[in-house]
Amino acid sequence: MSPQELDSLLGELDTLLGAAARELAEAADADALEAARVRYLGRRGALAQKFELLKDPVLPPEEKARLGQKLNSMKQQLEQALGRRKASLISSKARQGTLTDLTLPGHRPEVGRLHPVTQTLDRIVEIFRGLGFSPVVGPEVETEFNNFEALNIPPDHPSRESFDTFYLETRGPPLLLRSHTSPVQIRFMQTHRPPFMIVVPGRVYRPDAVDATHSFQFHQVEGLAVGPGLTFGDLKGVLAAWAQEMFGSGARLRFRPHHFPFTEPSAEADLSCIFCQTRGCRVCSGKGWLEILGCGMVHPQVFSTAGYVTGAVGFAFGMGVERIAMLLYGVEDIRLFFDNDLRFLEQFR
Ligand code: DAH
Repeated sequence: MSPQELDSLLGELDTLLGAAARELAEAADADALEAARVRYLGRRGALAQKFELLKDPVLPPEEKARLGQKLNSMKQQLEQALGRRKASLISSKARQGTLTDLTLPGHRPEVGRLHPVTQTLDRIVEIFRGLGFSPVVGPEVETEFNNFEALNIPPDHPSRESFDTFYLETRGPPLLLRSHTSPVQIRFMQTHRPPFMIVVPGRVYRPDAVDATHSFQFHQVEGLAVGPGLTFGDLKGVLAAWAQEMFGSGARLRFRPHHFPFTEPSAEADLSCIFCQTRGCRVCSGKGWLEILGCGMVHPQVFSTAGYVTGAVGFAFGMGVERIAMLLYGVEDIRLFFDNDLRFLEQFR
């Protein structure tokens, strides 16, 4: 190769370098960039072909050196142009939000779960469903009639005090936030004929001073079974079966005589303490038993007010859900259920 030929070859290489550098720098996307890389820097690309010239046996050593230097510097410049374009394509893609940077720590998806009171309520209802009861719901805003009168609680009755109540401001007949789920008994009986067995989960309200065991809102599950021949024995059997499912096969119930205006006879049921098995502990205040529900045979007056004229019989019961959840989960303050503190709520799977 003459010096002139070498000079013109070097000029040609500069043209190639300019074209290749421009193509790399202007590649529109990753595919175009890769095509340009293959064309110029690939194993059979334009630059590799020029490197073949170095193998020419008649090329004098100093020309070989000049050509080699030129080719190596071209290679370096083109690789740098390739790297720069690659980086800028990636960062502009990232700016458009179309690229996930897999090296960043991930966002753990938050998985929701049911509130512990809801879980307890669902479990209570599920067990009664297994025993043949159908779930039914009623409104939280009630009439005085359904919440009190129809349940045999007349206006001057002292037990109204224990059902201290939130009243709504209305022009017409008084409306209130129901203080128990029992009014749904009335609604259901007014529209259904026996025999039936229902459970009524729901929220209730009482203007109680809030403390570790009282809240102005809480949940109850009501039960009502009406049908020929039902006895207090059926009531005990149903509740005992429910308690064993709910608290374990060792759970026992004991029934103490009590008074409710809407049942006669009435009883309160105590659960054998699930912490000490009746030996006596701090949770049951040494008594060995935990009061968990009220129950009884439906008062004839309730049947007749609901419109059942002839000798209906049945039993009813009502229980507080928060109290049961507190026992099941060992929660000592009812307010924790309503604080919405995730540190508390996340503990219930
Ligand atoms: N309604 C009562 C209360 O809130 C609970 C209750 C007691 C419901 C006896 C009943 C029942 O159905 O028979 O305290």
